[in-house]
Amino acid sequence: MKCSASTGNTGKHWLSKLLPNSQKLRILSYLPKLETWRREKAGEARLFECRYEMYAWINREVLGEAAIDYLEFGVFQGDSIRAWAETNTHADSRFWGFDTFTGLPEDWDRVINPLDENAFDTGGEFPEIPDERVGFEKGLFQETLPGFLGREGFRSPLVIHNDSDLYSATLFVLTRMNEYFAPGTIILFDEFSTIFDEYRALEDYCAAYVRDYTVLAATRSAESYYSQVAIQLV
Ligand SMILES: C[S@@+](CC[C@H](N)C(=O)[O-])C[C@H]1O[C@@H](n2cnc3c(N)ncnc32)[C@H](O)[C@@H]1O
Repeated sequence: MKCSASTGNTGKHWLSKLLPNSQKLRILSYLPKLETWRREKAGEARLFECRYEMYAWINREVLGEAAIDYLEFGVFQGDSIRAWAETNTHADSRFWGFDTFTGLPEDWDRVINPLDENAFDTGGEFPEIPDERVGFEKGLFQETLPGFLGREGFRSPLVIHNDSDLYSATLFVLTRMNEYFAPGTIILFDEFSTIFDEYRALEDYCAAYVRDYTVLAATRSAESYYSQVAIQLV
């Protein structure tokens, strides 16, 4: 049998030599997705000046102030988990925070303000939150979450907060927890508009697991253009 050269492959070959293998270019080429996503998915979303107003609205209007199971991935000094525990005061609610507490496990490569591995290191210390409903799991999500899921069952509605910044960590959490995500599960993102990380993880997760969602709320202000986004799985 004769081997014939394909024109498409020759073109690809030359393009692969001509174009730079640049992570910055990859990130930049992703940016326009935010605007398309906003138009197509976020038209009905409630908009808020800051994330704490958004949490309060979700707790009141979507969750009806009911008891929740809240899992936060990316805790650092505890600002967001503390805010959720103060917002949802139901005695039966449970709040878990997952973090290495030694900072990011890899560099966070983004165009503006990239961060090095170990940024957000708290020296292994948990935040002090004097509320017995709140607990912490220390270590890489990839190491702590599987064992945790074997020990715990969850009530509905489940609230997931992704604030790890990284694509790898967010994708791991979403895919590993898919079987626990009943329709109605609420998932928050804290750095959504960085687009190459938390947004891309959501996009890839939905494609791989054939999931869809509605956008409940987002932040939009002088400081934030869809940085924080809350979705509800269908
Ligand atoms: C932006 S900080 C969290 C901020 C916090 N939620 C707040 O409101 O202030 C991101 C955190 O994610 C953690 N993190 C990122 N990837 C992780 C992983 N794979 N496993 C465990 N922790 C991770 C980092 O250690 C860091 O503390």
